Amino acid sequence: MDALLSPEAIEWREKARDLAERVVRPLAAKYDRAQEYPWEIRDALAEAGMFGVWIPKEYGGAGGGVMELCLVVEQLSRACGGVGVLFAVNALGSFPILLAGTEEQKQKYLPPIAKGEKLIAFALSERPAGSDASGLVTNAHQDGDHWVLNGSKKWNTNGGAADIYSVFAVTDPTSKSRRISALIAEKGDEGFEIGRTEDKMGIRCVPVVELHFNDCRLPADRLLGGKPGLGFKHAMMTLDRARPGVAAQALGLATGALELATVYATDRVQFGQPISSFQMIQAMLADMASSVEAGRQLIYAAARACDAGDRSLTKMAAMSKLYATEMAMKVTTDAVQIFGGYGYMKDYPIEKYMRDAKITQIYEGTNQVQRLVIARQLIKEAGSLDHLRAFIPLPDHPNTLEDLARAEAEQAETPVS
Ligand code: CAA
Repeated sequence: MDALLSPEAIEWREKARDLAERVVRPLAAKYDRAQEYPWEIRDALAEAGMFGVWIPKEYGGAGGGVMELCLVVEQLSRACGGVGVLFAVNALGSFPILLAGTEEQKQKYLPPIAKGEKLIAFALSERPAGSDASGLVTNAHQDGDHWVLNGSKKWNTNGGAADIYSVFAVTDPTSKSRRISALIAEKGDEGFEIGRTEDKMGIRCVPVVELHFNDCRLPADRLLGGKPGLGFKHAMMTLDRARPGVAAQALGLATGALELATVYATDRVQFGQPISSFQMIQAMLADMASSVEAGRQLIYAAARACDAGDRSLTKMAAMSKLYATEMAMKVTTDAVQIFGGYGYMKDYPIEKYMRDAKITQIYEGTNQVQRLVIARQLIKEAGSLDHLRAFIPLPDHPNTLEDLARAEAEQAETPVS
């Protein structure tokens, strides 16, 4: 479906694919085992200009959007899901600045991110606030021309490796809708410490850590956009644009697993023939390929909606994340099944795809949260379907067979005048 992509987008995809095959795939198992940040891969991505793909040209980027971001993430994840998120999380961290930062904040923070000189992370979740993001308790108060930040963040992807952090904190505990603001913290700020590093099932090459802020004093100009109270809205707007990226990570994992399983099936001989000649394996491959392609088209549609600022973008982003990540979990599990006993072993590359896929159903909003977001949007949209009410019996009309029988009986008892 290249006809639907711009020449620039295709160029980014091909560049990412080349880098993924040349640099990422040969190193994927090594960094997965070591659970270490692959700085050599970061360097290769920076050299290829990849970190600027979603950043506008006026801030040193390549001027692409969510579409180009997704194409690059898909290709990187095809070789390593950890590298896919190691890259994409910089978009998640920088979207708040892009969407809501002051001109000075954009000029200061975006160019070094675009060059890959500085990495960024997104600090929203806390121990008591995972799905219930607005329940966060990290707080900041003004003291002269500083904000004083206190609290801890949990599950911070890229933490420790990153130089810049978009941090969400309560700045007005008395307000219902303007409670939270976003602040920009930098590595080295006094009172800011990186806490424990998690030992993870998958995406092991990218760190996930706790962050601690202990009377961390941030200059007033670190308040995102210079206005307090808009943090939750900006976090939600950010997630709308980042969720297709998680979907693309899932898509890349599913694509990579399908390719490996197909090659394995054509080589593996049982009962005197390649297992790809058995219809049960063929049916699995056909179902896997069909769902991968369905996921791809939904993600690209969601990315286009985000880039066009279409009103459907919240729903489309959530749908793409929900569908693609459920699909990736199934496809990567089926790929392990096709590899059989070998697939379960760490010597083979396939089990890592399944481990890496699992987190895509959880982070940037669990798939339960995506369903909630989709359903809320559907219910909002029901307002435009008023004409259908004429065709739907209301609750006080007969609407079950029992009601109907009762109504008919009552009618039969009514004397004809
Ligand atoms: N765009 C703009 N504004 C939005 C919005 C959107 N998509 N969604 C909600 N808002 C606004 C609402 O309009 C409302 O504004 P007002 O108060 O002015 O009316 C406000 O935000 C509150 O909205 P809700 O009442 O819908 O909020 P809620 O408390 O019910 O939460 C939720 C909704 C969808 C469950 C949300 O909390 C959510 O998305 N939770 C999941 C959090 C999440 O995805 N965390 C991921 C962390 S990052 C991560 O995982 C990174 C990583 O490791 C890689």
